[in-house]
Amino acid sequence: MHIFTLEDVDIHQIINRALAFKKREKLSLENKIVATLFFEPSTRTRYSFEVAALNLNCKTINFESSNSSLNKGETLYDTIQTFAAFNIDAMIIRHPENNYYEELKKIKIPIINGGDGTNNHLSQSLLDLMTIYEEFGYYEGLKILMVGDIKHSRVAHTNMKIMRELGMKVYLSGPKEFEDQETNFEFEEMIQKVDIIMMLRIQKERHHSLMNLSNEEYHLQYGLTMQRLNKTKSHTIVMHPGPFNRNIEIADEVIEHPKSRIFKQIENGVYVRMALLEKVLSR
Ligand code: CP
Repeated sequence: MHIFTLEDVDIHQIINRALAFKKREKLSLENKIVATLFFEPSTRTRYSFEVAALNLNCKTINFESSNSSLNKGETLYDTIQTFAAFNIDAMIIRHPENNYYEELKKIKIPIINGGDGTNNHLSQSLLDLMTIYEEFGYYEGLKILMVGDIKHSRVAHTNMKIMRELGMKVYLSGPKEFEDQETNFEFEEMIQKVDIIMMLRIQKERHHSLMNLSNEEYHLQYGLTMQRLNKTKSHTIVMHPGPFNRNIEIADEVIEHPKSRIFKQIENGVYVRMALLEKVLSR
């Protein structure tokens, strides 16, 4: 019933449904109520789930954590049980703690995970995969370079796992401080070899003074500049989950360059989230 990780869905089925919604297939789930409960800031995920719900003719409500009874000591579990008692139809939750959903497994209303700590961002991975599939038509053998704050990126963690399962070759690059368990590849060399470059934001909210580099030094060493973009293969595309730090990990001119798929990723996010809502609301 719940969708906490990609293991809870058939990714090909979700992407096929998302592609159908993109081709204007209609589905009306009138009178269903979808609540978004975000305990961490979000623009793309929260509002695209809301647009997705509205596209399906659902009603939406947003939980404002800063103005809620959390301030009186209410726990996450009790907040979610309260929404379940309202008899709404689905909840989308984002929370800063990894695996926050473990304590919510017995909640009777379907929950979709909108991101947990540094662990998991399933809807982002699905929209990334949809964007890659639209571009190349397959996954097996594609080479992707992820660059930046790998250690604190739930997008990187979810993507690495699923992309390897799909037969993609995943390479990581970035400052030592942001290394995970993986080999660190040479950025300048790898950008010339891969099909996809995925730039990642430095997650300053998850660490404070971990990085020894200034923003300018980071941009010089690890930023995707026009000079570097010009070294990529003709078919190479650029992705970024957003939000992006302009002129730190990615230069202004690259963001809307013809090789960039950043705004297509955002657009595809609405269709993927319609497919996820369809999955939990049509049961
Ligand atoms: N990519 C992503 O999760 O963005 P938001 O934090 O704005 O939702």
